[in-house]
Amino acid sequence: MSRSLLPLLADGKFHSGQGLAGALGVSRTAVWKQVNRLVTDSVLEIESVKGKGYRIRGGIDLLDIDQVKAALDARASALMTHLEILDTVDSTNAHAMRLAEQGCLTGLVCTAEQQSAGRGRRGRSWVSPYASNLYVSLLWNFTQGAAALEGLSLAVGVAVARALQACDVPHVGLKWPNDVLYDGAKLGGILLEMKGDAAGNCGVVIGVGLNVAMPAAAAGAIDQAWTDIKTITNNQHPKRSRILAALLNELLPLVADFEQQGFTHWREEWQSLDAFCNAPVVLHAGDVPLGGIARGVDARGALQLETATGLQSIYGGEISLRAAS
Ligand code: BTN
Repeated sequence: MSRSLLPLLADGKFHSGQGLAGALGVSRTAVWKQVNRLVTDSVLEIESVKGKGYRIRGGIDLLDIDQVKAALDARASALMTHLEILDTVDSTNAHAMRLAEQGCLTGLVCTAEQQSAGRGRRGRSWVSPYASNLYVSLLWNFTQGAAALEGLSLAVGVAVARALQACDVPHVGLKWPNDVLYDGAKLGGILLEMKGDAAGNCGVVIGVGLNVAMPAAAAGAIDQAWTDIKTITNNQHPKRSRILAALLNELLPLVADFEQQGFTHWREEWQSLDAFCNAPVVLHAGDVPLGGIARGVDARGALQLETATGLQSIYGGEISLRAAS
């Protein structure tokens, strides 16, 4: 039966064991076992009240493939070759990369209700509770080698910010190289992974994680200041399927045009969203932190750091940038 029970409970109302069993064509015992499994796996809290049945208090907002497709604009629809909505997966990036290795095509989008091993930058994990946030990976094959992709991850940040603006999430900022911020707190992150020929054809998996409605129980595992769309919009946000479509409406045209346009096309907009523009910062790359004033990015997407010894261009990598205290 897997998790076919969840869509029936998504409305947050009580449903009797008998009604659920009838809808799924299974026994009441099978329903009871399934509820227990979901609770034991800590997927969700399911309330069980004698005489009333089961409910998920407050309901859940499950992704709906038809709603996503209906909200895509014509260009994004044409560019997306496949949309996969998984229930649970280790990491949508890892999954998309596996599909890439099997020869899957450019334009594949993979998303999941939950990640069991969501990956963040710098070897960190990405907290990915069930039916709460967005975990999305887009696979795209580029032909002109890694050099033509300089600044791609920054441009993806611009696409994410645009999508959020389209969903009435205001004042989103970007932190070099890949963080999406709101009022200094992390709202989302971007992780690009690449395979193939650095000088020619390469497959890139573009992973985006967005906090939509982070449950308090899951948030305990986050080791930095964070926020979610629910908090920012005072719970007045579109459903996750609409937010996903808004993201794809920006992301798919971006990847399709990026090799031709390059980061230059996105640079000005990135700078307008730069949350650390002209701010004192400290870079942590190796053992020795490097302090300076952040002066935006150059045409290749390299951070321009004004240090005591002059302006330095900092390229991506395992670097973290923090406000200087
Ligand atoms: C960061 O550390 O800021 C990057 C986080 C990227 C998370 C997303 S969620 C979808 C995709 N799958 C993953 O395992 N990671 C990325």
